[in-house]
This record gives sequence, structure tokens and C-alpha cells, in this order.
Amino acid sequence: MKRIGVLTSGGDSPGMNAAVRGAVRTALNENLEVVGVRRGFQGLFDGDIFRMDRRSVSNIIQRGGSMLETSRCKEMFSASGRKTAADFLHRQGIDALTPIGGDGTLTGALLLAEECDVDLVCIPGTIDNDIPGTDFTIGFDTAINTALDAIDRIRDTASAMERIFVIEVMGRLSGSIALEVAVAGGAEGVLIPEKSNDLPMMMQNLADSIKKGKRTNIIVVSEGDETGGAAKVTEEIKTRLNVPVWVTILGHVQRGGSPTARDRVLASRLGCAAVKGLLAGKAGTMAGEIHGKIAYTPLSETIGSSRALNFEKLDLAYSLSK
Ligand code: F6P
Repeated sequence: MKRIGVLTSGGDSPGMNAAVRGAVRTALNENLEVVGVRRGFQGLFDGDIFRMDRRSVSNIIQRGGSMLETSRCKEMFSASGRKTAADFLHRQGIDALTPIGGDGTLTGALLLAEECDVDLVCIPGTIDNDIPGTDFTIGFDTAINTALDAIDRIRDTASAMERIFVIEVMGRLSGSIALEVAVAGGAEGVLIPEKSNDLPMMMQNLADSIKKGKRTNIIVVSEGDETGGAAKVTEEIKTRLNVPVWVTILGHVQRGGSPTARDRVLASRLGCAAVKGLLAGKAGTMAGEIHGKIAYTPLSETIGSSRALNFEKLDLAYSLSK
């Protein structure tokens, strides 16, 4: 292996740049040539690649977003598209890839590896924290701290004006972000996709809270919850409890910003581990961190199945908010 490609794909997450830096500098330390691919797998179709040296990744460890830019590449959904991508890699003498991204990226990477024999070790980068094979994905810690900061601010105004707020957080079909910020933000209710039929319980809890004279109530809703998001939950509360409710959708603010120390360290470790994994014959895997140790998990085990959530945190959020 002489030449490797680095790319970021799917929704960006804070810490992706630190992972790029980790992969690029490790590869250069190992005397490999490094090529950056712009806009995820799309760069393979557009021929948008460039040679990277140590200075290419200077001054990016603290930045959110992705210096390589990213995209959800439609061409990767078809076998012929994947063949085109593999042919391009071959023509450019790129022997292996380190794709950084979430579920969609891992799926595309697995198919590319299986169908076209491309060597790659992936790195889990997504705010959703929904990838098996790692305790945390890169960007999750920053996202929960950003969401928490927003929730704290909302609580200030909610308590000053004695209001009920429903706050929607991201996570696609994962309630990881919602669960963490519900506990950390002292929420009076939380709805997540992994737990069905929780709306009546949340409503009862809120009704009890209001009855007991609690004047500030924060309900955290994960965007993928079965009720249909914060707007729907707000309507339900208004209808059933006949009280005014305010709604805030935090949205993409959760994806931006400077990565936390935890995310920078995780990203640096995994960027390095991906390259070392390629050199050690671990192609076809994802580099993750489990119980503080680097672990390589076959790509087929990282996709399609959701990660188990710690439901104790759900009970904790409710019991401590009473
Ligand atoms: O996967 C990351 C994520 O931010 C999800 O939490 C969210 O559902 C989705 O991406 C939003 O995607 P887009 O930015 O393409 O709208």
C-alpha cells in the first residue's frame, strides 16, 4: 500500500476535521502518500482530489464542518456507480480509503469493498451516535453540549415567564441525543424513537407536574419520535391539557461549532487507528473505541442494526424531574 484517500461523507459532524488530520498525519508518518477527496464519494465521480501534506491539515483540529466538504452521493446507491468509483481509484493509484461518516457512508463503503474489492477502514463520524462498534461516534459529544447549552438558555426564559417548552433535537432514528440532554438538562419529559407509546406517560407526568405547581416544564423530543416531532407533540399537549406551549426546533445548530476536547481526542485516535488498521490488514472494518480501547468491527456489523440505548436514563430523567 503506497497511496491512500481520505474523505468525509454524509451529514458533517464536529470532529471530522480532527479525524482527517489524524489520518493524514499518521499516513505521512508511515511514508504513505495521501490524497484528499472533496465532497465525499462524489469527489471520485468528479475527479476532485488533491495531494495532502502535513500543512494541509494545519489549523483544522478546532474547526467544525469538514475541510474536505461532504455530501450524500447518489451515484454510490447503484452497483454501476460503485464500479465507476472503484475504477477511478484504480486509475489514480489510490490503494485504500479511510471514509469518515455515519450509517449511509458505512453502507456505501461496505458495498464498495464487497463488490469492487476496495480496501478501506471507516471512521464513525455522525452526531447521531447510532453506530454499533464504537461507544461514541465523532461529533456526538459536541452536539449534546451544543443542544444542552440551548436548552439551558430556553430554561432561563421559560422559568422567568413560567412556560412549557417542547424542544426538538436531531438524531434521525436514534434517541441518543435526546436522552443525554434530557438527563443533563433536567427535562420534565422525553420522547425517543426507540420507545413507543410513551406519549401518554409523558402527558401524565406533565399534567402531574403542572398540578403540583411546577411552573417551568421542558419536554425534549427526538426528531424521529413516533408522534411526529415537536410540533405534533406541542399540539397534543395543547389539546389534551389545554395549556399554552412554546416550541423550539434546534435543527442544524447541533451539527456545527468547535468540537469538544472529547470529540477531538476520539477523532484523533480513530483517524490514526484507521490508517494503522489498513497497514495491519484490517480492511473491511470500522475503527471504533470500545471501553477506551481501539476496536475494529467488520463493516457488515456496523450497519442496519440500531445500537442499544441505556433505558435507565429514561427512567432517571423522569424520576429526577418530579
Ligand atoms: O445524521 C446526521 C443528521 O444531522 C441527523 O441527525 C439528521 O436527521 C440529518 O442528519 C439531517 O440531514 P440533512 O442535513 O441532510 O437535512
